[in-house]
Amino acid sequence: MGPMRRTVTLMFVAALAAAVTGQTPAASQGSAVRQIPGLTAKDLYPNGCVDCHVDGKHGNLRMSTLMASWTTAVPAALVEKAKAASVTASKVKGKHPPMANVKTNIPQTCLAGCHKRGSAIAPPFAQLMHTVHLAGGAKNQYLAAFQGECMHCHKLNQKTGAWKTASGPEK
Ligand code: HEC
Ligand code: HEC
Repeated sequence: MGPMRRTVTLMFVAALAAAVTGQTPAASQGSAVRQIPGLTAKDLYPNGCVDCHVDGKHGNLRMSTLMASWTTAVPAALVEKAKAASVTASKVKGKHPPMANVKTNIPQTCLAGCHKRGSAIAPPFAQLMHTVHLAGGAKNQYLAAFQGECMHCHKLNQKTGAWKTASGPEK
C-alpha cells in the first residue's frame, strides 16, 4: 500500500462515516426505499469528480495534483487500466501531458478533448472511469466506501429523464 493509496483509503472511510451519520437508514423506519443520492437521499457530490477528489485533511487528491504527478509517471496499475480501456493501447505511454486549463471544468474539458467516447488517442472516460472506480471487488475503495454508486458521477434530471455527467471547477 503506497502513501497515495493510504490517504485515499483514510479519506473515503471518513467520508463514508459522514455519509452514514448524515442519513437516516430507510430500513429502520420500516420503509423499503433505497437511499439513492439525489433521488431519495441527499446528494453529497453534486459536482461529481471535483467534490470527491479534494485537497482535504487526508491529503491532496485533486485531479490537478494527480495529473501533475502523471507528467512524470502514471502508476503502473493505472497504466494497465488505461491500456485496457483504449482503442489503441500503444498510444498509452505512461505519462500524461501537462494540462494548464483543465481544472476549471472537470471532467467536461477532458471529455470534450482527448477522453471522448471512441477516442483513438487516449482512453475514453466512458470506459476508464468505470474500470478505475468499479472493478476489483472490495479492494477498490470506490466499491468499498461508496458501494459503486453511479449517481456520484451521473445525475438524473427527474423531470425530463435526461442524464448528464456532473462537471465543475476544481476546489
Ligand atoms: C464519491 C467519490 C469519487 C468521485 C465522485 C470520483 N472519484 Fe475518482 N476515485 C475515488 C476513489 C475512492 C478512488 C480510488 C479507487 C481505488 O481504490 O483504486 C478514485 C480513483 C480515481 C483515479 C485513479 C487514481 C490512481 O492513482 O489510481 C482517477 C484517475 C480518478 N479517480 C478520477 C476521477 C474522475 C475524473 C472523476 C469524475 C468523472 C472521479 N474520479 C470521480 C473516488 C471518487
Ligand atoms: C467516477 C465516475 C463514474 C461512476 C461512478 C460511474 N460512471 Fe458511468 N460514466 C462516467 C463518465 C465520465 C462517462 C463518460 C461520459 C461521456 O463520455 O460523455 C460515463 C459513461 C457511462 C455510460 C455510457 C457508456 C458509453 O459507452 O457511452 C454508461 C452506460 C454508464 N456510464 C453507466 C454507469 C453505471 C450503470 C454506473 C454505476 C454502476 C456508472 N456509470 C458509474 C463516469 C462514471
